Amino acid sequence: MSFANKKTLVVVTGASRGIGRAAAAALAAEVSGGGSRLVLLGRDADKLKEAEAEVKGANGEASVSSHSVEFADAAGAEKSFREILSEAKGPFEAAVCVHNAGTLGRQGAKAGDLSAEEVGEYLAVNLVSVVSLNAAFLKETEGVENRCELMYIHL
Ligand SMILES: NC(=O)c1ccc[n+]([C@@H]2O[C@H](COP(=O)([O-])OP(=O)(O)OC[C@H]3O[C@@H](n4cnc5c(N)ncnc54)[C@H](OP(=O)(O)O)[C@@H]3O)[C@@H](O)[C@H]2O)c1
Repeated sequence: MSFANKKTLVVVTGASRGIGRAAAAALAAEVSGGGSRLVLLGRDADKLKEAEAEVKGANGEASVSSHSVEFADAAGAEKSFREILSEAKGPFEAAVCVHNAGTLGRQGAKAGDLSAEEVGEYLAVNLVSVVSLNAAFLKETEGVENRCELMYIHL
């Protein structure tokens, strides 16, 4: 998929550090269309600002924003995704959504020690918020010819 000379929307979750941050900077360097927008999602506001600066360094032309969203709060995250993406200023000619944020949960926890709340938060991060973000992303990019979703599956 080429983003060259296409107004592109890039959404990356877990962009505050690690693989997501590197992916956001790498994708930013590929995007060259006027009006392109990169949306970085994570939790740690300070780290997100650092990531935002890094991504701006990789592409001085694109508009870059970062947003602190707690994916474990499924309802709050869904509302945030809709609000954030409705401000994305489309229509776009290409779009990509990188679902990278995730958790392996409490490693080594015994089944008998798990609470419904903990399991609910685990599913909210790894499943429900992924679906919510997809819904907001698909709505915002309806009609985009080169729409492409990249999904990391966390095992
Ligand atoms: N299946 C495998 O074998 C395997 C191996 C390696 C990595 N992975 C997965 O690949 C992804 C990236 O790995 P990584 O090493 O780069 O991870 P990392 O350094 O731990 O970064 C995780 C990112 O996800 C965000 N995140 C985590 N929980 C969140 C929540 N509840 N709400 C919102 N954002 C949340 C973090 O945000 P903040 O830092 O801002 O909180 C951070 O930006 C992770 O999902 C990891 O589980 C899987």
